[in-house]
Amino acid sequence: MNPEDRKHVLRMIDHGLFILGAGQGADAVANGVTWLMQASFSPPLIMVAIRANGRLHDMVTRTGVFSVNVVGSDQQEMVQAFFNSAEVQGDRMNGYVFEPGPATGSPLFPDTPAWFEARVQDTVKGGDHTVFVAEVIEAGVRDAAASALHLSDTPWQYGG
Ligand SMILES: Cc1cc2nc3c(=O)[nH]c(=O)nc-3n(C[C@H](O)[C@H](O)[C@H](O)COP(=O)(O)O)c2cc1C
Repeated sequence: MNPEDRKHVLRMIDHGLFILGAGQGADAVANGVTWLMQASFSPPLIMVAIRANGRLHDMVTRTGVFSVNVVGSDQQEMVQAFFNSAEVQGDRMNGYVFEPGPATGSPLFPDTPAWFEARVQDTVKGGDHTVFVAEVIEAGVRDAAASALHLSDTPWQYGG
């Protein structure tokens, strides 16, 4: 296999951008992620790959639940703030107000247009990321007219 071709073709898989959170209050963490997709209609399952050696991974593993905040097409600056380590200061994380999700307590960011909460059903430990398969157990839409930010609309790459 040509490693440059592999990188090129894997980077052609487009994804949305999301702020994925877990934990509560001062212990809450959230990171910007892109490796997320739906995996079943009934029950409604999603799968997401989370870096294996990070705090977010540990918190999702410990609590078995998480939140997914869909990043709007005009929120590139916001998601960028979550490519760094999560830091909670009062009611803000990395500068953005958050509140506990109704079903799991995981952090929701009211600035984002839509969100859901999920409960982990299965984990697949592969390489440097773990795939969590999770059931969507609560969801909300704040701005039905908003469109989601796609990785291909940004200067960033995550893949290869
Ligand atoms: C464009 C982009 C997409 C990313 N997608 C993911 C992802 O799907 N899964 C993941 O675990 N980390 C992803 N990351 C990395 C995390 O955002 C990053 O590791 C984390 O915020 C660092 O936090 P930490 O220092 O507390 O580990 C992505 C980073 C970038 C720049």
